[in-house]
Amino acid sequence: MKKVLITGSSGFIGSHLVDEALLRGYDVYAGIRRTSKQHYLTDPRINIIELDLSDKNKLKDKFTRLQRDSGTFDYIIHNAGITKSNNKSEFDTVNYGFSKNLIDTLIETESIPTRFVYISSLAAIGPGSNNTNEPVTKNDIPHPVSYYGKSKLKTETYIKSLKKFPGLIFRPTGVYGPREKDYLIMYKMINRKIESYIGSDKQLLTFVYIKDLVRLIVGSFNSEISNGEYFVTDGDSYTTHEFSSIVKKILNKKTIKLVVPKSVALPVSYIAGAVSKLTGNVSTLNPEKYKELSCTNWLCDANDTFKDFDFKPEYNLFKGLLETLDWCKQSNLL
Ligand SMILES: NC(=O)c1ccc[n+]([C@@H]2O[C@H](COP(=O)([O-])OP(=O)(O)OC[C@H]3O[C@@H](n4cnc5c(N)ncnc54)[C@H](OP(=O)(O)O)[C@@H]3O)[C@@H](O)[C@H]2O)c1
Repeated sequence: MKKVLITGSSGFIGSHLVDEALLRGYDVYAGIRRTSKQHYLTDPRINIIELDLSDKNKLKDKFTRLQRDSGTFDYIIHNAGITKSNNKSEFDTVNYGFSKNLIDTLIETESIPTRFVYISSLAAIGPGSNNTNEPVTKNDIPHPVSYYGKSKLKTETYIKSLKKFPGLIFRPTGVYGPREKDYLIMYKMINRKIESYIGSDKQLLTFVYIKDLVRLIVGSFNSEISNGEYFVTDGDSYTTHEFSSIVKKILNKKTIKLVVPKSVALPVSYIAGAVSKLTGNVSTLNPEKYKELSCTNWLCDANDTFKDFDFKPEYNLFKGLLETLDWCKQSNLL
């Protein structure tokens, strides 16, 4: 049975990756930290493995022992990371520094797997042009607008600098589905009959449903491709208004539209960021998130992904949201 290690298994994408890998018959090792919640990791077939990505010496000890006791992992999906923080430098520390710790440990302990899949992000490349509304392509010069995007790009660059390292990079756009928490805020607002937008510009967005994403990523182990960068979307483009309309339709709600001008949203994001720092919670709206929310073109060209991995998304936004909102209701979140 092939062994797969998935870091960040306690989170939204990670827990779905674990489910998909189990479904496909892999021997699954769920990498978590000591403090991680494990409520989505209850299947008895899962091997829980505590990894302190911040401490390279501990990591080296761990991988030396793992190597000795049960051999090298066949596949590693490095998914652990932060998408928001009150502290700008934390993006670099966690998303780049901890990734480098893991990769260097694998090299130094001779534990390099057949495939190391890195979950990057469209944010690493940045938005497309506001003037042309053309999608970004893998040939564009990366221009991340946030510290988050910069940290993901730095890890990509490090992976690509390594010789003979089987680093395959996926760059998902907005991922939605059951267990996700940020879009949930929007579903809850619409459920309370409020539809809010930042600025009046039309924003072009791309999405991928979690089940399609994990099918692609775990399915990529069977491909010959072990390097390169791939955008991941469902192949369609949507506006923010279309997203809200679908949610309204499924929830059967009539809403009041609230358009927050950008000139107001920016200071509000600073206030929300400052309050977050005081309370220790990380607000979904903060100056870093504002930078991404205020860009109007998040289209990307995923044709290579469809072609090279024979990836055919099964969910468009309507079908995915139908399933997501049903899950939210079943889980008493709406
Ligand atoms: N969601 C999206 O739309 C999206 C889009 C593109 C790319 N991504 C990427 O996908 C990955 C997973 O994102 P997600 O949306 O699933 O986020 P999430 O639900 O917040 O999960 C993040 C995971 O990373 C772990 N993690 C966070 N900080 C860590 C640290 N300091 N040390 C070790 N582990 C840490 C978390 O562990 P705890 O449970 O212990 O906190 C959790 O398991 C990230 O790398 C993100 O950049 C997400």
